[in-house]
Amino acid sequence: MAITTCVFDAYGTLFDVTAAARQAAGEPAFPALKDKWMDVATQWRLKQLQYTWLRAVVDAHADFWDVTQNGLDWALESTGLDGDAALRQRLLDLYWELAAYPEVPAMLTALKAAGYNTAILSNGSPAMLDGAVQSAGVGDVLDDVLSVESVGVFKPDARVYDLVGQRFHCATDEVLFVSSNGWDAGCATGYGFQTAWVNRAGEPLDRLPWTPAHVLSDLTTIPDLAGA
Ligand code: LAC
Repeated sequence: MAITTCVFDAYGTLFDVTAAARQAAGEPAFPALKDKWMDVATQWRLKQLQYTWLRAVVDAHADFWDVTQNGLDWALESTGLDGDAALRQRLLDLYWELAAYPEVPAMLTALKAAGYNTAILSNGSPAMLDGAVQSAGVGDVLDDVLSVESVGVFKPDARVYDLVGQRFHCATDEVLFVSSNGWDAGCATGYGFQTAWVNRAGEPLDRLPWTPAHVLSDLTTIPDLAGA
């Protein structure tokens, strides 16, 4: 079926989740982060995601902002930086204004010009996503920002992917779902979306029952892939 609707994961896909730790590491106030920022960023992300999956499995939802703070606290303790309250606060503040990847504005603009529906579908809370969309300046080229908060469970629960059809009244195979998270792209393939996995880091394919239809190194070719 021809694609009518292009839907994007937010964190790691449109917005660079390593940007907060990288930026703070360059600030004079946080010399201890200089050699550890990549460790902090990696562990923060990993714990944040693990907590979403665990909370979904045991039906103990909390919003993504809580889970993001929990993941950061684990990462700071694990890297010996948990005594620095100012660093914690700075990293959390920066998370609200993560940089978008450079190709994002032109890619979304091309999709909108070609008439596709465009949206974010994210674990993020509406307020967090609003902050990221505003700071990236891409609000005008998105038809909607769909948050898991309206169903109270995290990805990859099918109730989250259901939000796309409910919003755009489209068939699942008319949707191109794009995620940098291998597990998200894999599970969305199982759900029935056409999928693209943005594998910027050249990671191995997740060993799941479903394989994303397309593997890309960045978002530049999404309009071509959609058939624009
Ligand atoms: C999101 C996380 C999974 O934006 O990156 O949903």
